[in-house]
Amino acid sequence: MQSLLQEMLHFMRLSSSGLRMRPREFDLADLLEKIAAPYRYRCGTRMRLSVHARPQIINSDPELLERAITNLLENALRHSSARRLMLIARLGEGRIRIWVVDDGRGMDEARAALAFEPFANAGQAGEVTGFGLGLPSARLIARELGGDLVLDRRVRKGCSFMLELPALPPSPALRTGQAPTDVEEPPCVAA
Ligand SMILES: Nc1ncnc2c1ncn2[C@@H]1O[C@H](COP(=O)(O)OP(=O)(O)OP(=O)(O)O)[C@@H](O)[C@H]1O
Ligand SMILES: [Mg+2]
Repeated sequence: MQSLLQEMLHFMRLSSSGLRMRPREFDLADLLEKIAAPYRYRCGTRMRLSVHARPQIINSDPELLERAITNLLENALRHSSARRLMLIARLGEGRIRIWVVDDGRGMDEARAALAFEPFANAGQAGEVTGFGLGLPSARLIARELGGDLVLDRRVRKGCSFMLELPALPPSPALRTGQAPTDVEEPPCVAA
């Protein structure tokens, strides 16, 4: 009960914009590796987690970003029964795109339509479910960061969540000369 209250309070704080973005410059690849590290351990041998990101300084809020991505990794671990999980970052055309892709059981149309509705998918019979606040919270964070979180329907198996953020320019002092020019590709976990 206490953790439901904590989750609800956290969600309410997010949705009433009590959480403000604190942007700074950081390396996105480093952040993704840091977020992935404990999940690699938790996946053990049942799931392989890989990160696909080039070193790139971006300007965003790393703490909020970490919270959103953690919600997606947590879901993959709890709900997907996947064998493979990928964290992919692509930069281009003024946007940062981060995918969390698994090759697990996926979501049917009905569930996908309600995926971002608070409490809508919680407590389904016979399943390991939480409160149904993880995806709505992650979307609120993405929007707080000036972007969005969507379910990318292009994968054939499993779930692919795409977090899109604006690529705010780094300050001149930190500019590395590496322009965000990666070509955007749809993610694919099918071998
Ligand atoms: N990667 C995934 N694969 C399959 N189903 C998923 C995946 N991610 C989410 N889901 C489905 O979407 C539902 C909603 O996810 P959400 O994170 O909002 O809530 P939750 O995980 O059930 O609870 P909470 O995150 O609040 O503890 C899940 O209960 C699950 O049915
Ligand atoms: Mg969740």
